[in-house]
Amino acid sequence: MASPRFLRPRWRGSNELNPSTMVTARHAELSVISSIDDLQPGSNGFLIELLLDAARAATLIDLSPLAGRCQTPEDRLFVETWPGEHYRLLPALAKTLQATSVVEVGTYLGQGTLALALGAEKVITYDIAAWTAFPSTVLLESDFETGIEQRIGDLSDPEYFDSQLDTLMAADLIFVDGPKDGTFERVFGTRLYEAIAGTGKVVIWDDIRLLSMVDIWRKFDVYKLDATSFGHWSGTGLTHSAE
Ligand SMILES: C[S@@+](CC[C@H](N)C(=O)[O-])C[C@H]1O[C@@H](n2cnc3c(N)ncnc32)[C@H](O)[C@@H]1O
Repeated sequence: MASPRFLRPRWRGSNELNPSTMVTARHAELSVISSIDDLQPGSNGFLIELLLDAARAATLIDLSPLAGRCQTPEDRLFVETWPGEHYRLLPALAKTLQATSVVEVGTYLGQGTLALALGAEKVITYDIAAWTAFPSTVLLESDFETGIEQRIGDLSDPEYFDSQLDTLMAADLIFVDGPKDGTFERVFGTRLYEAIAGTGKVVIWDDIRLLSMVDIWRKFDVYKLDATSFGHWSGTGLTHSAE
């Protein structure tokens, strides 16, 4: 059985604005394009160098340990699509940063988790649902003996966030791929950036070009670079919490 993709076409509004009538594609979403010259802050040299190095490193990533776990040809195709999906860029960023410990928010089928584990020794992945709830998961029990840990909790809850602060502060790289519901990312992002200000940490955001994410992404008060051309078609953003 094909696993449900998280980004399903889900247009419910008037036909005039239905993205699937505007473009011929497997999946289309409405978005907004907006100027970069007034982004405050915009990018910095560190993020540009990081993306250039990681994009090159991504060409050398062997995704077969992850692709081989996919239960359907459709899932395998998604995982192997690059650029367009983020499964090469994630381990490439971890390797380029020489990350030991990585945090992921949003486990789902574990595809991002396994990809990150190709680039770092330890991956702590958060979700509000256990990985075992998804029959099409690529994760195996044995993964949890070799550097992967799942924690169940909502990081937009201030008490839970505080209880996980040590783990977030210890992470060399944080990948945020949660609900994109217009609230979680704003609330979690605001608290996260307050905590990691000036630490030099890099955060990867998925789906920054979705309508629910465009303004949240723009308003993060941190150096930022849109890395979509080497990541996920729905938007991949990198931030750097430097002084
Ligand atoms: C797009 S999927 C993650 C995909 C995965 N990171 C990948 O790259 O393959 C989003 C996941 O976020 C989870 N989620 C929803 N709300 C959450 C929250 N408040 N905290 C953490 N995870 C959440 C959902 O249960 C779902 O499994």
